Amino acid sequence: MPPIEIRPGVHWIGVNDRTTDLFEGLWPITQEGVSYNAYLINDEKKAIVDLSKSLKTDDFLDQIHQIVDLSELNYVIVNHMEPDHSGVLRTLRRVVPGVTIVGTQKTKEMLEGFYGITDHIQVVEDGDTLALGDRTVRFFSTPFVHWPETMMTYLEGEGILFSCDAFGGYGALRGGIFDDQCTDFGFYEKEALRYYVNIVAVFSRPVLKAIDKLKDLPVSIIAPSHGLVWRENPGRIVELYQEWAGYAGGPGEIGVTLLYGTMYGNTEEMMNAVAQGVSDEGVPLDIFDARHTHVSYILPSLWTRRGVIVGAPTYEGALFPPVAQVLSMAGTKRIRNRIATHFGSYGWSGGAQREFESFVDELKWEMTEPFEFRGGPTDDDLRRGEAFGAAFARRIREAV
Ligand code: FEO
Repeated sequence: MPPIEIRPGVHWIGVNDRTTDLFEGLWPITQEGVSYNAYLINDEKKAIVDLSKSLKTDDFLDQIHQIVDLSELNYVIVNHMEPDHSGVLRTLRRVVPGVTIVGTQKTKEMLEGFYGITDHIQVVEDGDTLALGDRTVRFFSTPFVHWPETMMTYLEGEGILFSCDAFGGYGALRGGIFDDQCTDFGFYEKEALRYYVNIVAVFSRPVLKAIDKLKDLPVSIIAPSHGLVWRENPGRIVELYQEWAGYAGGPGEIGVTLLYGTMYGNTEEMMNAVAQGVSDEGVPLDIFDARHTHVSYILPSLWTRRGVIVGAPTYEGALFPPVAQVLSMAGTKRIRNRIATHFGSYGWSGGAQREFESFVDELKWEMTEPFEFRGGPTDDDLRRGEAFGAAFARRIREAV
């Protein structure tokens, strides 16, 4: 994509990535893509705010070159060191050896660790400013949104907040880069939530702290380093982030995540009966087959919904592994305050329930009565399964 002027003298110079399959080597984006947004402030001094993954370095440098000669660059402001934003740095530094890298003290340490860069670094602290000519930028320390070195850069006068990971989302840009050009908010909001839960959720407390810290700042544009640039309604993405961060300490919304796996269809048959029971109570329900669904797509439901029903048979005296792996990731992402139950088929001695209980213990979830059955479910088992689902749904609806 060519550079796009977002305000006079301020350009988006991002890279739209439709090539990478796994973000962070872990989270699928084959279908959705992602953008690495960077920005160029073209004043007396020329400054780039954030960079890109080293995926299309030629394109990235060419975008800069369309606005200024690379040799004219004075500053590279590094809000965040993760290589999806700093990957171009090594090459850029070779091409423009005199460019000054601006970041926090921790950024300075990471520059050496990641790229062996130790010179031409300007360390800034919370509230420091940097004059570029007619324009001045101010830096705000926002540690752990997403890494400890993270900061945000604010262009005074214009009110542009370059927020890096904060307020970003998966999803390559589809033509327009601005929220007012977006015709598919459903896609972006869904992908922003998936990104939030996959990448940022563990740091929800620092997110809320950063939002609170910047609440009185006059912001006309939120320019994150992934996803849409918010110029018509910047408050919208802030409110969404605030809501999602709030799930870290809260009980979640009324709704059920039904996570299941099945070996020969017995637990799946019961899953349909349990789902019927939940639906009969009018409680919203997401169903995920853990065998076929990457955990990236399951986490948003677990993060936002109050109830978790796990359908899993016993496998070698333990919980069916694809389901266990999802619960393990729920632990990694520190999903708390959930009400959970388990159902599933067993052949002889069982064991799934025992492992489920140890997960629930570790996750500090509240557990309700489980429901296991031997082999294939009988008609009576299925009736009991439907009642089990309905009773759980009522429990979720009534939980405060
Ligand atoms: Fe988009 Fe934490 O990097």
